Amino acid sequence: MDILAGGDGPAELRQLELNGEVGLDSLPYQLMKRSIHEGFVFNILCVGESGIGKSTLMCSLFNNNDFDCTPSSHFHPELKLKTKTYSLQELCTDLTLTVIETEGYGDQIDKGHNFQLIVDYIDDQFEYHLQEELKIKRSIHTHLDTRVHVCFYFIAPSGRGLKYSDVVCLKSLHHKVNIVLLIAKSDIIMKEELEAFKRNINNELAREKINIYCFPFDEEVLGGILPNNISPFAVIGSRDFLDVEGESVRCRCYPWGTVFVEDERHSDFVYLRTLLMQSSLENMRETTHNVHYELFRQGRLKQMTRSWECGDNTSLTEFYRQEREWLRNDLKAREEKLRSDFVEKVKRREEEFQREEMMMFSKYNSIFRELVLQENELKEKKQNLQKEIVAFRQRVMTSNCKQRVPSTYSK
Ligand code: GTP
Ligand code: MG
Repeated sequence: MDILAGGDGPAELRQLELNGEVGLDSLPYQLMKRSIHEGFVFNILCVGESGIGKSTLMCSLFNNNDFDCTPSSHFHPELKLKTKTYSLQELCTDLTLTVIETEGYGDQIDKGHNFQLIVDYIDDQFEYHLQEELKIKRSIHTHLDTRVHVCFYFIAPSGRGLKYSDVVCLKSLHHKVNIVLLIAKSDIIMKEELEAFKRNINNELAREKINIYCFPFDEEVLGGILPNNISPFAVIGSRDFLDVEGESVRCRCYPWGTVFVEDERHSDFVYLRTLLMQSSLENMRETTHNVHYELFRQGRLKQMTRSWECGDNTSLTEFYRQEREWLRNDLKAREEKLRSDFVEKVKRREEEFQREEMMMFSKYNSIFRELVLQENELKEKKQNLQKEIVAFRQRVMTSNCKQRVPSTYSK
């Protein structure tokens, strides 16, 4: 019986019992091997006021102080985005990590349009991906994914709640990117204040209907703690270390004591890192592709089709015209390359033949010269031999004459 009915989707699915091992269980390993071979890409957008601790948190999260921590100026007339890409490796896993940091967020007098540049950046990365997908000749697997997979939104540790500008920015971002809220520099807030602060923020989020990223629950990861009960994560970052019982520990030292970054009694940092690395990196990539990018893609395709249906078919027609143009140029370039390769090859062979001919000719010349020399030598030897023969005959004749003289004398 056919498993698939012709064109009408899946028909009856028959369960087949295998009579022995055929190796199907290696499929997950094949997938794992391919993933390790291809490496991973992850892009983090850090949104927060200047000096709120964005770069320091990246150093702490990935346990490396080589992340760019150059302080940005507080006097930017407008918001900027700073993008840095790093290559990280742990055992046999490679990660290409891009960190996009806001520069001068909230430093301007008119904070109203602060978020527009961030929204545009996220959309531009979606558009870049969409253009690749729409190409007739796509290279999705080698195409670098620049889409933002998570946005760390840093809330100033005011102890009160979200600012108006936070609400406006979060509202414009929440359906475009996975948002994780962080209470920055949480070491300066008291424990009770922090609880109330978190409550206020969550109430405001609910009131404003702002959706933040929902961490998948995995019993093994936090041992039963519900990740979304911790949010917003009160974090502490540091680039300093202290030696504790022979172990170098990331901390912040104050005149009154020491705060350890990875101590869960001091901050939620360790929860954030565990959740992010152990259960959410891939989930965030999937959500970005399946939810946020999908939404963008649908909107863009609808926009293209609508303008096409309304008679303004410039966008789609233009797109396919460009594609056709690109293909024609590509074909032309390839043809040209083939032709020039062929000409080059023929030229090279001709040169090789000429070189070989020259070599043969010089070889022939040297052999010919050698033969002439040998011939001359032989001629000389022949002449000498002939001379020797003549001299020998003369000597023989002289000795014969000498023998005949005494016999005559005796007569
Ligand atoms: P720009 O890139 O200039 O906008 O700054 P940033 O947001 O990247 O902040 P950065 O990480 O450079 O930190 C700025 C200052 O805040 C540094 O002096 C850090 O040591 C300090 N800092 C960072 N994290 C924390 C924290 O958790 N608590 C406290 N108290 N200070 C912090
Ligand atoms: Mg920075």
